[in-house]
Amino acid sequence: MTNADLEKLVDTSDEWIVSRTGIKQRHIAEDSMSNADMAAEAAKGAMESAGVSHEEIDLVISATVTPDYRLPSNACVLQEMLGFPNAVAFDVVAACTGFINGLTIADSFIRTGRARKAVIVGSEKLSAITDWSDRNTCVLFADGAGAVVVEACDTGSGVLSTFLRSDGKMRPLLWTKVGGTRYPYTDDYPFDKSDKIRMNGADLFKVAVKEMANAARQVIEDANLTPDDVTLFVPHQANIRIIEGVAKRLKIDRDRVFVNIEEYGNTSAASVPIALHEASQQGLLKPGDNVVMVAFGGGLIWGAAAVKW
Ligand SMILES: CC(C)(COP(=O)(O)OP(=O)(O)OC[C@H]1O[C@@H](n2cnc3c(N)ncnc32)[C@H](O)[C@@H]1OP(=O)(O)O)[C@@H](O)C(=O)NCCC(=O)NCCS
Repeated sequence: MTNADLEKLVDTSDEWIVSRTGIKQRHIAEDSMSNADMAAEAAKGAMESAGVSHEEIDLVISATVTPDYRLPSNACVLQEMLGFPNAVAFDVVAACTGFINGLTIADSFIRTGRARKAVIVGSEKLSAITDWSDRNTCVLFADGAGAVVVEACDTGSGVLSTFLRSDGKMRPLLWTKVGGTRYPYTDDYPFDKSDKIRMNGADLFKVAVKEMANAARQVIEDANLTPDDVTLFVPHQANIRIIEGVAKRLKIDRDRVFVNIEEYGNTSAASVPIALHEASQQGLLKPGDNVVMVAFGGGLIWGAAAVKW
């Protein structure tokens, strides 16, 4: 879906969207394609490139706020679709930070010997919870999925440090009100679209730049690195101006910052693993590289991870 397509839906312009967000187009899943369908494709691709079998996987983590069902988890749906006979599968609900949470949990499981090989999928069908008449949000959000496989190894590569933090007081800056058990759909639900994403963009913007920079700085320090040692910086793709603001605070120059927001928009939990996949495809990730990922999302919640590739 291009910005020109959105011009037909709401009072906006390609110029406004590109200059304020950096987004030129985004991908919207067909009605018949569910979140778990996308997640399955991503998980299959990750397992193929890692050369691991379904039997070897003992942990499946799905990060999403748009699961196929309220019950059970998307991870269990994925397990049914792909078959992981020896795994436990569960979801992480941490909005755009979900992939970093998933990676942190997998890292902890592996370090403590509770798991050996994990698949972490970030997948979202945000188009289903987007109000397509709200120009404040519909130009930003999109659908997609990305996945990684992590495993125990002795070679010095791996997760160097992680950082997670949240502040529930700022929940109303980005949320969907109706559809849970506090405000369930009822017969008299007014259909005022309060089951769709509502956002205070300006306030979020400020918190995002500050906290993403703090989180990234923390994992860099905890990994005994400096910003100069970061080979590739992979931020959540929410807004090019947020990305540039964070990189500037960290003094990481633009050629070490991975950006694909112009093509995909904000795919929430899928954004970082999609970016990792593309960076890998483009030959930007070599063994020994220091990769720092950082994300921020509804909760509010934010986090970062430093990884030796
Ligand atoms: C949403 C966002 C792009 C708006 O950019 P901004 O620089 O704050 O916007 P500005 O202050 O320049 O402009 C706001 C005006 O643009 C209007 N506007 C909002 N969306 C618009 C659109 N798609 N097209 C045209 N105008 C739009 C607003 O109605 C407002 O108009 P008003 O001043 O008459 O009320 C920006 O705040 C943002 O990206 N915030 C973070 C959002 C985010 O990343 N959320 C997910 C976090 S994971």
